[in-house]
Amino acid sequence: MHARALMLAAVVLVGCGKATPQGQVAAASDTSAGRGGAPALTVAQQRLLEAAEIALPPGMAVESLPEPNSPGAKILAQYCTQCHALPSPAMHGPVDWPSVVRRMWVRIDMLAGSLGVQIPETAQRSQLLTYLQAHALQVAANLPAGPGKEAFETTCSRCHALADPKVHSPPDWPVVVMRMEKNMEKMKVSGVTHDRAVEIIGYLQKASARPHAR
Ligand code: HEC
Ligand code: HEC
Repeated sequence: MHARALMLAAVVLVGCGKATPQGQVAAASDTSAGRGGAPALTVAQQRLLEAAEIALPPGMAVESLPEPNSPGAKILAQYCTQCHALPSPAMHGPVDWPSVVRRMWVRIDMLAGSLGVQIPETAQRSQLLTYLQAHALQVAANLPAGPGKEAFETTCSRCHALADPKVHSPPDWPVVVMRMEKNMEKMKVSGVTHDRAVEIIGYLQKASARPHAR
């Protein structure tokens, strides 16, 4: 990518789509970054920009959120779509949400000034966390042994904690795994071979059918 295209990407990525005419990109980044000169990006900066587009939330419709009219859902839709698509509460387990959200608050607080990012109040922050944790991914406590366990563990722990096989019945798992393959594509995370997907589905179906997995 050319330096100018990268700069534009930076402005769009960080500034959430405030379209800037190409000729003004350098000037806009001068004022927003508060630095002089319109430098060509260093290799490290280019890598950072490319990397920032990987593993972003794939996005979902507001109406599909659990309890879409609750205050928590509204806070999520208002504040968490300013830089990327709407994140699903099911994307992380209850234990992991606080650290993910903390990373986002840091960015939101830092970018509030020049880029006009909206900042939620303290009460809204805890409301949001409560909402995310209430509708979080149900994480596996302990996983039964069996063929495909290793494939499940390495493939399915790359974006979030390992899901509890019991959350879906055996006939439902193929559809869920297919959706995860789409997530991998949308989030630019490497996919799985057909054989590996079959292995994982086989493991999940067996584990979910067990009477006492936990
Ligand atoms: C100021 C811009 C900005 C806002 C606002 C923002 N994010 Fe992010 N978000 C990012 C960036 C940049 C990344 C990619 C780097 C990373 O993962 O930290 C990201 C990545 C993510 C990811 C995927 C990475 C992971 O750890 O799973 C999730 C989930 C996420 N954000 C959730 C949220 C939530 C929830 C909110 C609202 C509280 C939010 N974001 C608001 C900038 C933002
Ligand atoms: C590329 C990142 C990524 C990988 C890898 C991934 N997931 Fe997910 N997963 C997501 C996202 C994003 C969500 C929330 C949106 C959704 O449900 O599609 C999610 C949500 C879930 C949920 C909760 C939603 C539901 O339908 O129950 C389960 C269960 C799940 N993943 C299982 C898996 C399994 C099994 C694998 C391995 C085949 C896997 N994930 C691999 C991104 C990923």
